Amino acid sequence: MSKKIYLYGNWKMNMTAAETEEFFKNFNYASDDKVDIAVFPPFTSIWAAHKAAGSGVHIGAQNCYVEPKGAFTGEVAIGMLKECGVSHVILGHSERRHIFGESDELVAKKVKACLDNDLVPVFCYGEKLEEREAGKTFDVMERQIKAALNGLTPDEIAKIIYAYEPVWAIGTGKAATSAQAEEVCAWSKKLINEIAGKDVKPVVLYGGSVKPNNSKELLSMDAIDGALVGGASLKQDTFIEIYNAYAK
Ligand code: 13P
Repeated sequence: MSKKIYLYGNWKMNMTAAETEEFFKNFNYASDDKVDIAVFPPFTSIWAAHKAAGSGVHIGAQNCYVEPKGAFTGEVAIGMLKECGVSHVILGHSERRHIFGESDELVAKKVKACLDNDLVPVFCYGEKLEEREAGKTFDVMERQIKAALNGLTPDEIAKIIYAYEPVWAIGTGKAATSAQAEEVCAWSKKLINEIAGKDVKPVVLYGGSVKPNNSKELLSMDAIDGALVGGASLKQDTFIEIYNAYAK
């Protein structure tokens, strides 16, 4: 149990500013050499999280735009996020790809813009159920990962945090088995290192119905460095228990 675990909570479109303050009441957990903790509130709760969380919890955004300012109605610039205490940004999440139509190319531009501005991209990728059933899992992910890393230096590739999120496991209560998740995370590390041309020791998280009752098995796998948690990150107890169940 020597590896560092990344415990990242994607709140999606949940948690008002008031609920965010409530979440962080008596929140006595901070990142250290064993665990790296981040939460990703909706834009309107980022400031509240930044004020309430304390310095041991990274605050992230769930999206950003690539231009520094201007006529981009509805978008939020990286500088604006940094001003509110943001250090990480989730990019390429399946809900952005499939509900809002974000392309591999746009995701790649966002990854690069974050790297250029010293924000950590949390880059998500993963296959849909029909793609898995058609035997296309690795083709789809290779396309997504290669597009995002195109033209980046090995140093930049090393700064990204990767999150394998099979679409069929997100919000369904049907997590990937530890063997399925391990297979993809190990394969991802190999591919990322091949693209970088050297071993950049990529950090790869698994996301998709991670709960306290399956986290020990998932987080114990060799190639899985942590969890990107949706539903179970909305309550302090279940969020922290995902780590504790592993660490105990
Ligand atoms: P759930 O944990 O709710 O399945 O969501 C996973 C996810 O999409 C995290 O980004």
